[in-house]
Amino acid sequence: RGLLRDELPGAEVLVVSNREPYIHNRDGDGIVLQRPASGLVTALEPVMRACGGTWIAHGSGSADPDTVDRDDHVAVPPDAPCYTLRRVWLSEEEQNGYYYGFANEGMWPLCHIVFVRPVFRAEDWDQYVAVNRKFADAVIAEARTPDPVVLVQDYHFALLPRMVRDRLPEATIITFWHIPWPNPEVFGICPWRKQILDGLLGSSILGFHTQFHCLNFLDSADRFLESRIDREHSAVRSGGHTTLVRPYPISIEWPPAALAGVAAVEECRAQTFARHGLAPSVRLAVGVERFDYTKGIADRFRAVETLLDSHPDWIGRLTLLQVAAPTRGRLAAYRDTQAEAEAAAERVNARFGTAEWQPILLVARHHEPEEVLALFRAADLCLVSSLHDGMNLVAKEFVAARDDGDGVLILSTFAGASRELREALIVNPYDVVAMAEAIHRGLSMPVEQRRDRMRLMREMVAENTIYFWAARMLLDAARLRKRRAIERNFA
Ligand code: F6P
Repeated sequence: RGLLRDELPGAEVLVVSNREPYIHNRDGDGIVLQRPASGLVTALEPVMRACGGTWIAHGSGSADPDTVDRDDHVAVPPDAPCYTLRRVWLSEEEQNGYYYGFANEGMWPLCHIVFVRPVFRAEDWDQYVAVNRKFADAVIAEARTPDPVVLVQDYHFALLPRMVRDRLPEATIITFWHIPWPNPEVFGICPWRKQILDGLLGSSILGFHTQFHCLNFLDSADRFLESRIDREHSAVRSGGHTTLVRPYPISIEWPPAALAGVAAVEECRAQTFARHGLAPSVRLAVGVERFDYTKGIADRFRAVETLLDSHPDWIGRLTLLQVAAPTRGRLAAYRDTQAEAEAAAERVNARFGTAEWQPILLVARHHEPEEVLALFRAADLCLVSSLHDGMNLVAKEFVAARDDGDGVLILSTFAGASRELREALIVNPYDVVAMAEAIHRGLSMPVEQRRDRMRLMREMVAENTIYFWAARMLLDAARLRKRRAIERNFA
């Protein structure tokens, strides 16, 4: 708030994302609120609570469309409202084409390079264009000033920055791409590569998690657009407009607000062990994600199997508790991912499990943030084996939950978080044997080493919080606005 007041005086903040921070679901006669399993929401919600403004998102809950539930503007969070949620309603057809189709069957596998074939259909593209326009219209309708700060989130809205720029030329548009950006060979597969690049270059600043993804973007613009690439300043000049391309590694709130509602480590452990019937002698590993093929869930089950084969002394002494929120279930690739993981868990349990003990407990349901943090506190080890991930905030949340200073993190080298959390045990998730060895090493690690590693990781996350992420982008935006003012005044 102070930063906005001092550096961006009077600036109006508008956020645009597909996922909304509070999902309003109808339950009998009432409405229940759900907080979605979304790294983007985990990251942005505390920023909006601090800054205020308007968050424009798809109204995705099951609240009755014909009643008062369908209010376009809702003050949130419900207990202490401090910003406005502006919901945009989408038809089945729009959602199928824009969200399930182009965004999640096209851009998602394209950018993650996990060898799930991207599907590009002309009719999905048409919906993607139409929904981007619908959200751009919402931005224009909400904007009270000619030069708002518009924070555009993710691969659902690649075209929106240009659409807003055309109508609000003075706006400061900061677009953040939460997933990886592939190299030009891969990106070039997209039949609408030029339109995607041109749309994004309507932004004043385009942010990625890592420098690597920025370079991939610059190379893609260089290859497919008539543009001037200024590598020294990491900028693209196209159609008379300059876009800065910068890395902003995303993070979390420190400490996460939800931690206040979570019991201490010993109690979390006792409750989790009792709930799952675990013997006190068992060591507990946890995994927490959406049931997404990018997360490598079945691979980690195979790693547990390999571990039990190669180090049979862990039989009866290690359980992996995997919670996975079902997601994007209309798509076959997601249903197949869930079925594959369930089959792998069953196989490992059938091979090694007994009446008293199972090596893998798979709980396929959504967990609220407090439940997730309690699981992190209960665990000896957290496994993050994404096959490719922009950042992965689960890794940072695990570290934040461990204010007892203990716990081991195993982290995929293909998650952006591995650039910062260097004291995790870094693994290649495609190498099941190496993952099995990392689990063995993590569980056998002396307590002093666990604590030393955790201390450094906690320092890292505490230093680069979500507020720093937002502040760095807003400061860059403020600098651009000041430069523009100087140019205008002295032209
Ligand atoms: O971080 C990538 C992302 O797609 C976010 O945009 C999104 O909120 C999250 O993963 C969860 O996906 P979805 O919103 O499709 O459930």
